Amino acid sequence: SKDVAIEDPVQNPKSLDELNATILAAEPLVPGATRAVLGEGPQGAAIAFVGEQPGDQEDREGRPFVGPAGQLLDRAMAEAEIARDRVYVTNAVKHFKFEQRGKRRIHERPTTGEVKHYRWWLIKELEFVQPRLVVALGATAVLALAGRALPISRNRGEMRFEPWRGFITVHPSYLLRVPDDDARRDAYEDFVADLRRIRALSE
Ligand code: URA
Repeated sequence: SKDVAIEDPVQNPKSLDELNATILAAEPLVPGATRAVLGEGPQGAAIAFVGEQPGDQEDREGRPFVGPAGQLLDRAMAEAEIARDRVYVTNAVKHFKFEQRGKRRIHERPTTGEVKHYRWWLIKELEFVQPRLVVALGATAVLALAGRALPISRNRGEMRFEPWRGFITVHPSYLLRVPDDDARRDAYEDFVADLRRIRALSE
């Protein structure tokens, strides 16, 4: 009947698969992305990492954190003895937003409105995954999880993202952009130290 057709399946997904189907069916808020990039990892994972949005390579491959920032995250996780295949990894925004410059697609930061638009999916996703600890990687993830902007530098460390225990740290792409070599190494070591705390808190 008409009612059934009107009923929006997005409103009441019964499983992570059903939720993911609604994300895949959704139009990107900003046109351009190839596909929605879903979260990845086991349900019941002790730790869920939340990034900003898929980048160029994630958009092509359809998997989160496989580009340069993801490779750095993998390396830092390995150093902190966190097995990537045992954690859940996702993004606040599920579609890549970019500006085309010649052949290159240059990442553009999502607006607050875009983060709000995708927030419903993120929260539902975490309800299905039920991690013991939710990690915000950078400012966009903090905005999505806390529901308001908080400066990373002053809030780095443990933080509640109701109803979850949370932790705020930097985004791995920030570590790639620190211009000075020594400062970049220090920033990386601080990030690995955060990951060690994250592992301990999740145990
Ligand atoms: N940056 C993110 O925030 N997420 C990804 O998946 C890749 C890069």
